[in-house]
Amino acid sequence: MSFAIKTSKLKKSFGNVIAVNNLDLKVNKGSIFGLVGPDGAGKTTTIRMLCAMMLPDEGKIEIGGIDVVSRGEELKEHIGYMPQRFSLYGDLSVRENLEFYAEIYQVPHQVKDKKINELLEFAKLTNHSYKLADQLSGGMKQKLALSCNLIHTPKFLFLDEPTTGVDPVARREFWKILFDLKTQGTTIFVSTPYMDEAERCDEVGLMYQGEIIYCDKPEVMIKSFKKQIAAILVDDIFKARDILNKLSYIDDVYIYGEKIHLICDDYYNVKTAVKVK
Ligand SMILES: Nc1ncnc2c1ncn2[C@@H]1O[C@H](COP(=O)(O)OP(=O)(O)O)[C@@H](O)[C@H]1O
Ligand SMILES: [Mg+2]
Repeated sequence: MSFAIKTSKLKKSFGNVIAVNNLDLKVNKGSIFGLVGPDGAGKTTTIRMLCAMMLPDEGKIEIGGIDVVSRGEELKEHIGYMPQRFSLYGDLSVRENLEFYAEIYQVPHQVKDKKINELLEFAKLTNHSYKLADQLSGGMKQKLALSCNLIHTPKFLFLDEPTTGVDPVARREFWKILFDLKTQGTTIFVSTPYMDEAERCDEVGLMYQGEIIYCDKPEVMIKSFKKQIAAILVDDIFKARDILNKLSYIDDVYIYGEKIHLICDDYYNVKTAVKVK
């Protein structure tokens, strides 16, 4: 089988820090691959190498049959890359931002206007096209940023934490756009710190300290998880975390939004022991 994206033994260090270690990835054409991991896991470094923005120390990358390390320049017209802190031009309008990126990506003049109108429609931004980018909501900004990176109709799309800091409704809308793009045949590689977004991907790689510690379809991942996860609401989230962290029958505790999530073998035991109301 030929893969759209394939890496083997990819490695990148910064001084003593091994940011990406022996990464082997395979992504099917026309699928959505989610790279999920906490801050510092190596997601951004991975995406930068895939997009030929940074050379690996070791290893191979192949995208659409192109060897990225030696032929990175050829790849650029086929990919869209939305960095973690993608900046729009706040004092340009929505349409002007798209026009600007059309120039950068050298979109031919004959097709430019048609493409911009299509993207505005696609991202539901047509009625906002004369607003300044600075005046848009967070969700709309993300959709515009995505649209700017779709102006040249890339076959491969790389998105680095595109929904971080965006509200849940806008996040859902953003994912709807990604599903539509997938239907059109685009291969999407997206990083996220949100586990719930992993479920929306065709395949998920969990990344931790530079390594992929698990990689499979999300439904397989969920089935193979034998522990229980409980979400609880408490008055003092930090105090509760510290108390729960000390209990031997709880495997892990973390703060997720306004709730505490805890991982354990049997939540019933936890409930009786800590008198959860
Ligand atoms: N340019 C850099 N110089 C030095 N260290 C870096 C650089 N970029 C990333 N790192 C380090 O590499 C590790 C992985 O970082 P990164 O790829 O940004 O992870 P993530 O995107 O998952 O948060 C971190 O320990 C980070 O501090
Ligand atoms: Mg990052």
